[in-house]
Amino acid sequence: MSNEKEMIVDIVMDHETIKETTKSNKKSKEEQPKELKMEKITIQDLPGVGAATAEKLESAGYRDMMSIAVATIGELVETAGMSEAVARKMINAARDSMKMGFESGMDILKKRELVHKISTGAASFDTLMGGGFETNAITECFGEFGSGKTQVGHILAVNALKEDSEAYAVYLDTENTFRPERIIQLAEGAGVNPENILSRIMVARAYNSDHQMLLAEKVDGLVTEQQKKIRLVVVDSLTSHFRAEFIGRGTLAERQQKLNRHMHTLAKIASSHNICVYVTNQVMAKPDQFFGDPTASIGGHIVAHASTFRIYLRKGKKGSRVAKLIDAPNLADGECCFEVQQGGLIDIN
Ligand SMILES: Nc1ncnc2c1ncn2[C@@H]1O[C@H](COP(=O)(O)OP(=O)(O)OP(=O)(O)O)[C@@H](O)[C@H]1O
Ligand SMILES: [Mg+2]
Repeated sequence: MSNEKEMIVDIVMDHETIKETTKSNKKSKEEQPKELKMEKITIQDLPGVGAATAEKLESAGYRDMMSIAVATIGELVETAGMSEAVARKMINAARDSMKMGFESGMDILKKRELVHKISTGAASFDTLMGGGFETNAITECFGEFGSGKTQVGHILAVNALKEDSEAYAVYLDTENTFRPERIIQLAEGAGVNPENILSRIMVARAYNSDHQMLLAEKVDGLVTEQQKKIRLVVVDSLTSHFRAEFIGRGTLAERQQKLNRHMHTLAKIASSHNICVYVTNQVMAKPDQFFGDPTASIGGHIVAHASTFRIYLRKGKKGSRVAKLIDAPNLADGECCFEVQQGGLIDIN
């Protein structure tokens, strides 16, 4: 546990970077389609990009201006083998073309109007979240086993697709806990056709952390190449593979670096395509903690800072569940109490 703490100090730089990136992603969010349609600039129009580089970039998933504009210099150097100076020029040119500078508060307000809120089905939970789980954001839910994290993922999938008949949900399942039978129950509870809902949930089982990262990177292609309107991406669980694969002091730095990259991918998906990213995370015991909550979420500050909203879920009295909002950019911290039932989540007063 103290390893974790030491690491947290080491990775402060990293999470600052990711926070910055997440912020700039947010700023530039909805501009992409409009700008691209108006000016029709392609990656090949950027300085220093010939056909070969463009091909390399495209095959690595950099297909539009936005993906270059929000990339880091290191990423481009690694993928396309260009010099740092060329990468910097490219990124700057891409940012210029997308007009990623300052905007007025009114512009931001207009963009905020495009944010969708996915209902949990329980009014008090929705109220806690300011109306539901937001798109263009990552929401992390952490809690002990059986606290309801996976149930929330399932109900969000049903409700996201109920609210938009053309939308799709992506479910990255790392623990083999996605259950179509459960979706059927919840869809019936929500009064929608279960088969229709199931046919619009794209499930991928991730077998290790690399596979999980690759699958997350592929989500972009589902939107840009396959033109799928993805409203929700669930990563359940975000950290289980990372936790299992990187054991011991010496591996912690590598784990945090990879997690950072994964969170970066998820943040990009959320902001470039107005998607709600819901990730689940387990807690671990903190034996050295004498005051306050004796548990901590996995992934430390990397995950915490990359998440826009953070919810702590725990089991309450008589089978109830308590959700506590502990980090949100514009909402008060608070708690609500609900119960998981066959047909969905219901409020407990
Ligand atoms: N059909 C159902 N009807 C009522 N309650 C259910 C149903 N299915 C699951 N539950 C409740 O949800 C609980 C499981 O919650 P869930 O799987 O979401 O936990 P979790 O937080 O994801 O745990 P883990 O960390 O082990 O993945 C069950 O113990 C049960 O209380
Ligand atoms: Mg679970």
